[in-house]
Amino acid sequence: MNSQSAVLSSESPFLESTESPRSWWNDAVIYQIYPRSFADSNGDGVGDLAGVTARLDYLAKLSIDAIWLSPFYVSPQADAGYDVADYRQVDPLFGTLEDFDVMLAAAHARGLRVIVDVVPNHTSSAHDWFVAALAAGAGSSARARYMFRDGTGESGENPPNNWQSIFGGPAWTRTTDGEWYLHMFDSSQPDLNWRNPDVLDEFDSILRFWLDRGVDGFRVDVAHGLIKHEDLPDHDFGAPFEGTGNFGPMWDQDDVHDIYQRWNRVLAEYGGERIMVAEAWVSPPERLGRYVRADEMQQAFNFEFMTVGWDAMGLRRSIDAARAITGEVGATTTWVMSNHDVVRHVSRLGLPDPTSWPKGISASDPQPDYTLGLSRARAMTLLVLALPGSAYVFEGEELGLPDHTTLREEDRMDPGFYRSGGLDVGRDGCRIPLPWDSSEPGFGFGPAGATWLPQPPSFGELAVDRQDGVEGSTLEFYRAALLLRRERTLGFGDLNWHVSRPSVLHFSNSGVRVVVNFGHGPIPLPHGLDLILPSGPGAVVAGELQPNHAVWLV
Ligand code: GLC
Repeated sequence: MNSQSAVLSSESPFLESTESPRSWWNDAVIYQIYPRSFADSNGDGVGDLAGVTARLDYLAKLSIDAIWLSPFYVSPQADAGYDVADYRQVDPLFGTLEDFDVMLAAAHARGLRVIVDVVPNHTSSAHDWFVAALAAGAGSSARARYMFRDGTGESGENPPNNWQSIFGGPAWTRTTDGEWYLHMFDSSQPDLNWRNPDVLDEFDSILRFWLDRGVDGFRVDVAHGLIKHEDLPDHDFGAPFEGTGNFGPMWDQDDVHDIYQRWNRVLAEYGGERIMVAEAWVSPPERLGRYVRADEMQQAFNFEFMTVGWDAMGLRRSIDAARAITGEVGATTTWVMSNHDVVRHVSRLGLPDPTSWPKGISASDPQPDYTLGLSRARAMTLLVLALPGSAYVFEGEELGLPDHTTLREEDRMDPGFYRSGGLDVGRDGCRIPLPWDSSEPGFGFGPAGATWLPQPPSFGELAVDRQDGVEGSTLEFYRAALLLRRERTLGFGDLNWHVSRPSVLHFSNSGVRVVVNFGHGPIPLPHGLDLILPSGPGAVVAGELQPNHAVWLV
């Protein structure tokens, strides 16, 4: 298929619902592909788009509705592709635009929608615009597309304000001519000035470029960051959180919503129910509702829920609050437990404190208990997949993959590790190339056995070939749970809590009873119901639900 025919296919191959108020994304299960770690087709040790195409049957068999791909655009890869130098081209590392078109058509042919990442907060410093801005000098229109400012101090030797980069160190870097530019992430990721019309127009055009190719939507990177407080005031990092907005003048400013209303109108031109999902780390959680108002985005990841951990009452509070917040604006809730930025939940839930939220785990940290973590993670899966709303699954979650928690420092790639001087272990541990075949070098990640990050030996037993068709394996458990969720339309259902003890969650949705045991001892199950899915082979013993397990009953 050539790219021209793909452009012609920008009309959605999916039927639009005309009568039902439901849209596909209300209850969709969306599988996150982190392309560099999913499947390598050419043997360079980095996953690619042809690798995705080759594994689409595997994905379709999971009963998911869509895939979201993290960035595969031209990039120096200083932040694994979240530093984009050309928003309209595929980086040769991942293949070509034609590979993308082939992948998209093949996914659509299997009934899978495709969402791509858009990275609007910053470009790469290698982007033409930034290169031109540096060359053009102070006061130029090229610089006005970014956040250039004079420094403070007698000769401007200090940064314009005290903001810190998310990856550590000051959020400002000085150019050779003395001006400073803002970067909330790495110094190679200069922040764009979203009050500049050039920037607005350029991103309309980028969205249209991918919509014209036929994508079904966008995951919006750092959606809460595009607009900064106009005065760029210092931030009082020590101030108690007052609950009136956000973490500071660089995040979650009210004007950011004008951008998403504008994008909503762009997507609406295309029909076929295209969506946007916000990556917005905001607080208090009520602020998240603003991103999913009817004229903005369709989904926003519920990160507050993700961070609760193994705590029955904390989860119940979080679920109720999230449903109330999204309900108020007529949206549905979007559940997620893992992604490419956080420690995989199998590992988090196996830590001595399963409510902790580490920024990576290293060999010198207390190591997670894998068996316990997996048991809890599978129980959480039965909880999450039974909640009304949409759910995201991070690649490898369906295999029960843990983080690589003993990576050597010299193997680390995350800029967060380097900029923080190693204080943040970083995110490499959750980004390890997937194991497909335990008998091959690199566990079948690619033809040559090379992997851009080393895999832990335990990935062998967890490889797809070791789980496929094996009763009780995590892969077969996910397949069963996702199929049942679809058949019983749990994502469209309603949630009713049953009285439970502090260490038990017990609710029903669409005739399915869900019981999760967070306690230390077994608990009796409700009488007269049939077990349709246990979280693991040992979940029910003599009619009692064991600790760290869950069941679906009807
Ligand atoms: C988002 C991405 C993360 C990236 C950052 C900067 O949080 O998920 O991986 O480092 O944005 O683009």
